Amino acid sequence: MSVSVRVEAALEALLGEAQSNATPPLLASAVRYCVFPGGARVRPSLCLAVAEACGDEAPGLADAAAAAVEFLHCASLVHDDLPCFDDADSRRGKPSVHRIYGEPLAVLTGDALIVLAFDVLGSAATTRPERLAPLIRTLAQGVGMPSGIVAGQAWESEPVIDVAKYHQSKTGALFVAATRMGAIAAGASPAPWSLLGEKLGAAYQAADDLMDAVSSEGEGDKPIGQDARLHRPNLVAELGVQGALHRLQDLVGEAVAAIPDCEGAQGLRDMVRAQAMRLTPKHLARSAA
Ligand code: IPE
Ligand code: IPE
Ligand code: MG
Ligand code: MG
Repeated sequence: MSVSVRVEAALEALLGEAQSNATPPLLASAVRYCVFPGGARVRPSLCLAVAEACGDEAPGLADAAAAAVEFLHCASLVHDDLPCFDDADSRRGKPSVHRIYGEPLAVLTGDALIVLAFDVLGSAATTRPERLAPLIRTLAQGVGMPSGIVAGQAWESEPVIDVAKYHQSKTGALFVAATRMGAIAAGASPAPWSLLGEKLGAAYQAADDLMDAVSSEGEGDKPIGQDARLHRPNLVAELGVQGALHRLQDLVGEAVAAIPDCEGAQGLRDMVRAQAMRLTPKHLARSAA
């Protein structure tokens, strides 16, 4: 089974198990609307690719780890789009959750997905209980204080923001959690996988900044020009278009170099390069080539 088919199957199964007739229907509907159809699913795919590279000795636990990472990512997006954050009307090519369901249900959708992420880990780890604590802690570090997504979003309320720290927290931290959790779920040491998550997360946010600054309306699946509108730090504002493009290319190279020697290394390298191609605005990719 390909990694992407496996990701969708895991999300479908684990969300399905969590919802029952007892769930308030609008909440159930909003949560599904938030998770399906997905975006690139890059974080859960990375998590499973690392688990597979480490031997995938407990596939059910790897599925749960990948789903937990994506549930948290989806929660971060629905909260990020709220009027009190980025006030974005669309996400993944359709109206954002609060535009359809209203703000209270959008807040609760994010909350429900955050809790669900930890619940699916708890329920899948019964056969490998010794892996539960490291999985929970790793996910929490990717999301909370002092330097997970919550911290990243909180930097936006500070008068002075260090762009590298901001990107590392709001985006890099969950990529690090994804690679490390893939290893932990498979019973391997997470340490050798941190740098790949760090570099890929930084590359991903560099590409997102470029896309936000220079792509044309309709090129991606969400609004553009958001960072300038909201006065958010953006790598293009800091380094210029060519500077940001070079930084992206350097980070992709560093991510590829950070992949540990293992059986699945070539597949992981291909995955990193494919993501970089997908995320570089088309006209910039042409001029760089
Ligand atoms: C969007 O992430 C937020 C960033 C950190 C750049 P993705 O670009 O991975 O969003 P989806 O999941 O594909 O929609
Ligand atoms: C991305 O922030 C990271 C999150 C915590 C959601 P952005 O605000 O840059 O992401 P997009 O551009 O809305 O996807
Ligand atoms: Mg934001
Ligand atoms: Mg945003």
